[in-house]
Amino acid sequence: MRKFLTTTAMIALAVAGAGASARAADVKEVQMLHWWTSGGEAAALSVLKQDLSKEGYAWKDVPVAGGGGDAAMTALKAMVAAGNYPTASQMLGYTVLDYAQEGVMGDLTATAKKEGWDKSVPKALQKFAVYNGKWVAAPVNVHSVNWLWINKAVMEKIGGKQPKTFAELIALLDKAKAAGVVPLALGGQNWQEATMFDSIVLSTGGPEFYKKAFNDLDEDSLKSDTMKKSFDNLATIIKYVDPNFSGRDWNLATAMVIKGDALVQVMGDWAKGEFVAAKKTPGTDYLCYRFPGTEGSVIYNSDMFGMFNVPADRKAAQVALATATLSKSFQSAFNVVKGSVPSRTDVPDTAFDACGKKGIADLKAANEGGTLFGSLAQGYGAPPAIANAYKDVVSKFVHGQIKTSDEAVKQLVQAIDDAR
Ligand code: GAL
Repeated sequence: MRKFLTTTAMIALAVAGAGASARAADVKEVQMLHWWTSGGEAAALSVLKQDLSKEGYAWKDVPVAGGGGDAAMTALKAMVAAGNYPTASQMLGYTVLDYAQEGVMGDLTATAKKEGWDKSVPKALQKFAVYNGKWVAAPVNVHSVNWLWINKAVMEKIGGKQPKTFAELIALLDKAKAAGVVPLALGGQNWQEATMFDSIVLSTGGPEFYKKAFNDLDEDSLKSDTMKKSFDNLATIIKYVDPNFSGRDWNLATAMVIKGDALVQVMGDWAKGEFVAAKKTPGTDYLCYRFPGTEGSVIYNSDMFGMFNVPADRKAAQVALATATLSKSFQSAFNVVKGSVPSRTDVPDTAFDACGKKGIADLKAANEGGTLFGSLAQGYGAPPAIANAYKDVVSKFVHGQIKTSDEAVKQLVQAIDDAR
């Protein structure tokens, strides 16, 4: 008997020892899937890499190029299907919820409690980072899409001023055209076109309309004359791109504005990350204005680091990543470089430039005033199948496969219905 007990005790000791040595062998590595491959994006990401390397974590980069993240999400799907979960993946809104529903996400609730995320992260983001009461993602930032990015020297050369209405924007584009400058820098990829269309719809129909159509998916709004008018406006603005716009990456379009080869880009504020990387200063080299007719509203998206249910020996690295991501110092340092604004409301705007300060103030006002809306193009208006259907219809219209606004509205309603 005594011998038996001793043996049991020995086994218990051995198991405990194995546990201890498993902890000692925690994998000191963060594997991160993302689509941050442009100059500005890579610069922002290296802020995080450095923070983690100070804590002794190696960075295992899984970059999948392609703005907007469609290619990255295809790669992620394959990894998850193979049971090969990254520590975390960049994700947008409804995609987080999809994976959470699939049951493959980890649980960061203890970290969230310890770090006070409940109080500091806006509810609009918690809706996507928390699933069934559990934190499954760490929101890195808040981007907004309803911006104009304008080269200041070109603006002065053509004698332009801030456009306050859609008609004034078109008049400004005409001036650029007359001066022989490409008026509108755009990359003809579906997600870029749809991201711009988000702003056009808000400008054309106003905040209530945007919300009903693109967040509530209200059928009457989707098939309304206002939606038709929005497509008319898209048809008008698209005439101002250069002939080589098809397929161009978004950051190359930004570079056209930075260099003064084009007047303006309509893009989310990740474009500002490119200006920052090129050492350009707002107010001196470039101007950031809200897309005309959308001042007071913010169409947002937020990059989330979706946290997968990784094996026990990789959890410590995941917690370190999550903790670093939402630390106040990181939130300031990272977002200054990325062009976005902090995903917690208690980060001072001191380090941010004029556009960043405006972004922070606009987000706060929109959040408090009920004019903060998810971007349909950027995964915060509706689940991925619907967002993809939307991007497809907008792009077909831009590239002439859908010929009239009437037809575009019809196909949009149909495509969204099919994807519901
Ligand atoms: C967005 C993302 C941004 C930026 C952009 C272009 O979807 O939220 O962080 O990466 O794509 O790549």
